[in-house]
Amino acid sequence: MKILGESIKKDFPIFNDSKLIYLDNASTTQKPKQVLDAILSMYNETNANVHRALYDIGSAATERFEDSRKKIAAFINASTEKEIIFTSGTTESVNLISHTLGNSLGPDDEVLVSEMEHHANLVPWQMACERTGSTLKFIPLTEEGELDLNEPEKYFTPSTKIISITHVSNVLGTVNPIKKIAKMAKDIGAIFIVDGAQGVPHQIVDVENLGCDFYAFSGHKMLGPTGIGVLWGKMDILQSMSPFMGGGEMINSVSMQTSTWNDVPYKFEAGTPNYVQAVGLGAAVDYLSSFGMEKVKDHENELTQYALDRITQLKGIKIFGSPMHRSSVISFNMEGIHAHDLAQFLNEDNIAIRVGHHCAQPLLTSLNQNSVARLSVYVYNDSSDIDKFCRSLSNIRKYF
Ligand SMILES: Cc1ncc(COP(=O)(O)O)c(C=O)c1O
Repeated sequence: MKILGESIKKDFPIFNDSKLIYLDNASTTQKPKQVLDAILSMYNETNANVHRALYDIGSAATERFEDSRKKIAAFINASTEKEIIFTSGTTESVNLISHTLGNSLGPDDEVLVSEMEHHANLVPWQMACERTGSTLKFIPLTEEGELDLNEPEKYFTPSTKIISITHVSNVLGTVNPIKKIAKMAKDIGAIFIVDGAQGVPHQIVDVENLGCDFYAFSGHKMLGPTGIGVLWGKMDILQSMSPFMGGGEMINSVSMQTSTWNDVPYKFEAGTPNYVQAVGLGAAVDYLSSFGMEKVKDHENELTQYALDRITQLKGIKIFGSPMHRSSVISFNMEGIHAHDLAQFLNEDNIAIRVGHHCAQPLLTSLNQNSVARLSVYVYNDSSDIDKFCRSLSNIRKYF
């Protein structure tokens, strides 16, 4: 906890001269000045549309944009940067696949998700199944909040064409056995997509080693800017897919009636890309890489365990989920106090947490809750943040 936490808070302008205790990192993360500087220098020094402008700042912008793609590819061990498609975030990444591969589903086909999915990895599949007449199936959860893979033949069938599962639950913190599911997907010849929104920011992700076909994530949850995300996909599958959106840059040639497509990844990047944000995300990757993701994970594990130990000492706390492998998320409720009241009281002590259904309504329904409180830590948090949070919680307890 000494390597990260308090010692790097100075890199984050939002914490300067502020008493803010930010514990809502699964929602979005704060930005270090290294990321903010990269964004500003793009606008101040090299602002020109990428892949179009034939003047110096245009070439510089394109170089910085493509450099960022390379950094991201190396960060997740993609075999080539061409497998990195810039999107606006995880939501768009999943929609890209559900509107391309998803559209080739038929009435006899099945799509498999789980009961812990964020709406971003559920609603697009509901819509794809509705369009194509295919069936949406769910892997159920155990009492502990893990995927129940005990009767795989019920869900992994010869009709399963697409499997799309979250790497880490944004509510329960469960880290899912992606390698195992990848093997099960391969055995039945299904495409396997991983929603990595809560994965990549918190642990080493090696897409080759995981064995999935697609991996989606959002820049803003890993110290990067909003409006930028990634869809990584295996080159041969990307090459076989139709484009998602039509427009500038995604074409090879256009006539009055028809068009042909550009190469991957540009085939999937219609219009002016979020090149400034992409460079910002590259700076976030550099920043995280300067510690190494193993250290990030150790720091979060230690802090999350510390928070769990402290919170469970308080009276009337119910924690949702007790997975064997937990990421940096703890969802809980305090007996007799509505989660929204809790958030408001914490806010009076400058403590930011998230309450609500966390865009996972089916999961909340299965937990018999319509709102839960969620604490989620990141690299700049420290045990003193947890201490203040627990002090505030016990004062609220006394008040009620
Ligand atoms: C597990 C998971 N998937 C998908 C998303 C959607 O991410 P975005 O809103 O950045 O597209 C989130 C956001 O909280 C998430 O936690």
